[in-house]
Amino acid sequence: MKKRIVAGMLTALMAASMVACGSSDTATETTTDTTAEESTDTAAEAPSGDKITVGFAQVGHESDWRTASTNSVQDAFSEANGYDLQFVDCDNDSAKQIEAVRQFIQNDVDYIVIDPIVSTGWDTVLTECEDAGIPVIVIDRTIEDSDKYVSWVGSEFMNEGLASGAWLKAYAEAKGITDLNILVIEGSNGSSAQIGRTDGFKKYADAEGWTILDSQDGDFTQDGGQQVMESYCKSYAGKFNVVVCQNDNEAFGAMDAMKAAGVSYGVDKDVILISFDACKAGLEYVQSGDINADFMCYPLQGSYCADIVKALQNGETVAKQTFMTEPWYVAEDILKSITYTNNAGDEVTEDLIQVTDAASQASY
Ligand code: AHR
Repeated sequence: MKKRIVAGMLTALMAASMVACGSSDTATETTTDTTAEESTDTAAEAPSGDKITVGFAQVGHESDWRTASTNSVQDAFSEANGYDLQFVDCDNDSAKQIEAVRQFIQNDVDYIVIDPIVSTGWDTVLTECEDAGIPVIVIDRTIEDSDKYVSWVGSEFMNEGLASGAWLKAYAEAKGITDLNILVIEGSNGSSAQIGRTDGFKKYADAEGWTILDSQDGDFTQDGGQQVMESYCKSYAGKFNVVVCQNDNEAFGAMDAMKAAGVSYGVDKDVILISFDACKAGLEYVQSGDINADFMCYPLQGSYCADIVKALQNGETVAKQTFMTEPWYVAEDILKSITYTNNAGDEVTEDLIQVTDAASQASY
């Protein structure tokens, strides 16, 4: 199906939407609207009844989060829903991801969905999409060096990092722990998820005078988390009491490494363990007290994408940015909420949810 936005119109559309690009000033949903005007050039239109073709350049398959994200987009853009989805697993390789987008342009798809592996290096290929008149929707991670996309749907990673720092500060105070010596296992370097979580947490570490002993890339994988933690257990034996893993799969690997090294973790153990994602398996570990706190990153963005495509097909306005609502989960009930200044500069108080069977089973 071709309800193609012609290149000139797409340029105007993107120019109109530049105003709010890069701003992340609300925790829920921002609605800087853009309108997709349909081409009246009927020569480009295929017979009605055709499927809408969508190319999706996915990051890879590194985590439970990623699997849920892939399933969500594939479900939303299913054949039964009237789509022909071209899916590329980019295996965490930025060059492969750019190549996939160029292939979608060659294939003359109607829409391109990108979950950017890294946040920079995008302007050239997005200009090529614009020149071809193909609207781009960005999901999950952000693009920082180009605004040539119609809409973005994802997480405020900085707030996830800030919330984890605010929680650790309040938790340490409640437990009477005064000396925090921290090891961080970062997500894939250069991704906005890694950058936001690192920067947000570091704000607290700097302000509170915590010691970050080391911070290394675990690539958002279980193997990566395990390898980094094995090396940490050798280099920092007996010197750390907090481990921050930037996703659940890294935490699973880190737990295996700590267990093997005889380091206990979780509620009232040697090490406070913090994680992100709050996938089902992650929340089960929170419930059992092995992970102290888990900050959700919500991956089910497929239906949001499909709604954007439908709106664009109908020439309707779409929000430039849509932020997922993300709860924070904890193992104990000693703290009910945290208060912190979010990335928009607003002081917010947010509930801490003690994990129950219902909460873990309801997760992805
Ligand atoms: O971009 C989202 C992050 O990427 C998730 O935290 C992680 O699990 C994934 O691999």
